[in-house]
Amino acid sequence: MTAADAPAPDVSPPNRRLYIETVGCQMNVLDSELVVGALRQRGYEVTSDPEAADTLLFNTCSVREKAEQKIYSSLGRLKYRKRSRPGTVIGVLGCMAQKDQDLIFRRAPHVDLVVGTGQLAEVPDLIDAARQSAVLGSKSRLTALSLSRRGGGRKEIEASFESYDPLREPTMRPTPHQAFVRIMIGCDKFCTYCVVPTTRGPEQSRAPSDVKKEVEILAGQGVKEITLLGQTVNSYKHSGEGKTYRLSDLLYLIHDTPGIERIKFVTGYPKDLGNDLLEAIRDLPKCYHYLHVPLQSGCDDVLKVMKRGYTVAHYRDMMQRVWEIVPGCSVSSDFIVGNPGESEESFQKSIDSIREFRFKNSFIFKYSPRPGTKAHERLEDDVPEEVKRRRNNELLAVQNEVSEEENARLIGRRVSVLVEGPSVRQKKEDDRDDASAPGGTVQLTGHSRCDRIVVFDGNPRLIGSAAEVEVEDCTGTTLLGSIVTREVTHLGGLPVLT
Ligand code: SAH
Ligand code: SF4
Ligand code: F3S
Repeated sequence: MTAADAPAPDVSPPNRRLYIETVGCQMNVLDSELVVGALRQRGYEVTSDPEAADTLLFNTCSVREKAEQKIYSSLGRLKYRKRSRPGTVIGVLGCMAQKDQDLIFRRAPHVDLVVGTGQLAEVPDLIDAARQSAVLGSKSRLTALSLSRRGGGRKEIEASFESYDPLREPTMRPTPHQAFVRIMIGCDKFCTYCVVPTTRGPEQSRAPSDVKKEVEILAGQGVKEITLLGQTVNSYKHSGEGKTYRLSDLLYLIHDTPGIERIKFVTGYPKDLGNDLLEAIRDLPKCYHYLHVPLQSGCDDVLKVMKRGYTVAHYRDMMQRVWEIVPGCSVSSDFIVGNPGESEESFQKSIDSIREFRFKNSFIFKYSPRPGTKAHERLEDDVPEEVKRRRNNELLAVQNEVSEEENARLIGRRVSVLVEGPSVRQKKEDDRDDASAPGGTVQLTGHSRCDRIVVFDGNPRLIGSAAEVEVEDCTGTTLLGSIVTREVTHLGGLPVLT
């Protein structure tokens, strides 16, 4: 049954308290922001206490098995919830919902709705319909799923996103000054290990004018930093409106939006990284000098098994272009250890690649076979778990070394920071004693233009503005420094930006 078949929602208002749990990537964080935005318009209040809520939503990820297990155990805890609270509505959204609707209802029969990634705009109606059934004492099972790769499906998905993305819930953002903007949905790359092309559907790029409008709305709400999102964000391509726009063109289009001071984009796909994009981030002062372009493995044989479409030599050529065109640009990567066929020798090549390419940081994952992927169907998961674990730790240790060395190169230099808020340490201290001196100096944090976390002491009034910080020390993850300018400066105009 879909929302269209459901009885007209005439729901006697229950408490309308919403609990939402989100796992997975930034795309999911944005989706949750949008779902909460839509539900707020119907009078819902968000609570962080599942006990206080009568609507519980789980926005799920399927990229590794562990992410799915986490959701099943959260759902398990709600097994008898409806005995004591009959009006409760439980919904599973997102990637796992897209992939496993029947399985979810089988494993967690108390779930009322399962809504895939392309239909999240329907969530408010589906919740109302589910509540109606609960009030009438009947059992409801509502699903809204379809991400067809053929003709009509694509159009439907596109339409659903355009009506939906501008609805947002500012309190769900990482900070009030930072927001995500989706520029692409889906993925057509079909790396053999990866479930995303199934869970997010075909690759589509949003119209540049829609993206621009959304950035303007966000800027009007006080957002200063935009992160453009896509699974392979630099494959962005949109024809229409008189020309074909690539990501570089889109950056030019949104760059001068008043109020926006910084722009970044994730995640990049190595094969599609053109010089036009590198030249755009070099020439546009608001762009981060940062790229996340996952290498995944340092071994050509493994890259071939993964069907990544490039070799280490291609990647090396890309890195040389990055270093030449945007000196000081930081690059981060993802790695999978224990992919089918990864020998000890292949693994050593991943270690070598971190040393050679000097990644700012790497997200390292143990290969997890995902049903529905080519790797799961055709390749044996032939690296034992303990070997995967050891390789994961070894690679992480090398990456930490490299991160620290690269951070240390910045000691003595000045970096420009968009001040995001109190540091983690400061927050903990504030939680312990809420007597922080008003107007006094606190420990603040933000990111440098090369996307490194910077921690320094300053006045809380600086939050949301730009500061110049001299780097004095570092760890593998953080630059520590002192503030140089105390006045509020426009980031784009700063001469020293690292
Ligand atoms: N679109 C991005 C990444 C999406 S998934 C890209 O192409 O780079 C995020 C990361 O999860 C991937 O980069 C990969 O390193 C990891 N990943 C994906 N599938 C995986 C699997 N089956 N097992 C382990 N890690 C996986
Ligand atoms: Fe997955 Fe590959 Fe697409 Fe990234 S590019 S989302 S790893 S299929
Ligand atoms: Fe996970 Fe879906 Fe993102 S599978 S990584 S939440 S696109």
